Amino acid sequence: MSESAPSNQRILVGVSGGIAAYKAVTLVRRLVEAGCEVRVVMTESATRFVAPLTFQAVSGHPVRTTLLDAEAESGMDHIALARWAEQIVIAPASADLMARLAAGMADDLLSTLCLASTAPVQLAPAMNQQMWAHPATQANRDVLLKRGVCLLGPDAGSQACGETGAGRMMEPEAIASAVLADTGAPSRDLAGQRLVVTAGGTREPIDPVRFIANRSSGRMGFALAAEAARRGADVTLIAGPSALPTPAGVTRMDVQTAAEMQAAVEAIETMDLFIGAAAVADYRVADPAGQKLKKQGETMTLELLRNPDILQGVADRAERPFVIGFAAETERLVEHAETKRRAKGMDLICANRVGENLGFDTPDNALLLLWEGGRRDLPKADKTRLAGEVLDTYQQIRQEKHASR
Ligand code: C5P
Repeated sequence: MSESAPSNQRILVGVSGGIAAYKAVTLVRRLVEAGCEVRVVMTESATRFVAPLTFQAVSGHPVRTTLLDAEAESGMDHIALARWAEQIVIAPASADLMARLAAGMADDLLSTLCLASTAPVQLAPAMNQQMWAHPATQANRDVLLKRGVCLLGPDAGSQACGETGAGRMMEPEAIASAVLADTGAPSRDLAGQRLVVTAGGTREPIDPVRFIANRSSGRMGFALAAEAARRGADVTLIAGPSALPTPAGVTRMDVQTAAEMQAAVEAIETMDLFIGAAAVADYRVADPAGQKLKKQGETMTLELLRNPDILQGVADRAERPFVIGFAAETERLVEHAETKRRAKGMDLICANRVGENLGFDTPDNALLLLWEGGRRDLPKADKTRLAGEVLDTYQQIRQEKHASR
């Protein structure tokens, strides 16, 4: 993060009550290191977990905790503070705070600032898994998402209360990356890494004018390539036919068929990360006609041959990179995706439910990320944001592996 260009963004970090409040200290430090100006506002209950003085020390500014503080209001009053903020990030966001924001309450300084500000708001929820799963919290989440609030996490895993499930706050480094991605000051955390991404659908010829294809637009793979390049990676994008522009700083190779895609991937001997975002045709026509086929009988049969699995080929390499794959499923998402992840030897699978106007050929998607011992739900968002979160998750898994060595 220290390699980031200074961002000069004015970020208001809100801290609400929860054991994860101590992790917000790291978040503030990362944002300050990246050149942001950070002011911290804590709820009354947050001050029971971490002393305001701690945040004052890392942010370099006094911390505000109450709405009706005559002394503080004589400096930068709460309306001025609301106008000052270019981004509001609340981490941790407790169930209570989410409920108050959803209801539009203004019963303390933090909720008042959210009402009084036009700045984009990002929330990193943190709570007991039962509280997160409760229909009341889920309804509040939906209201906030509809209003344009962006949710970061929560993650699933073991919780401070001893339970396991979704509700754990996203790691502060990942929150910082997501926040900084919005400031235009990209973190260069992927510098020095070689990444290969396959994207789009393949076209399997039937004759010189006809082919078998699918609805993949390539948007997810292009977004991943763009985001990784922005973060400093050396990116090769191997794309099936797509009208999308080549992202800045990305080396692009255009291919038509699965066989061409496989050859292009195989030609790259060393890579740190492989992302199979392409919708590769499972079958190709056994013997494509050399001339345009003429109409003949009422029915026609095409013989299809199974295509090679490109991702599997990479996962089977002796010196294999970290492998990320995708799975589009119409039913039993978690079960099918986890089975696929294991069968193909992926380190991380990004699963999405097809249908519900999400997935193929749409700007938005919702993903479920699964890896050994971890899971992250990424609610509906544009593919650029999702790409950033997939790469954050990759970084997190790498760091955890490194730390456990
Ligand atoms: O088995 P399924 O096609 O659902 O697996 C999807 C994942 O495998 C995707 O990441 C896709 O890019 C990759 N894949 C591949 N080559 C194939 C089929 C799928 O790389 N022939």
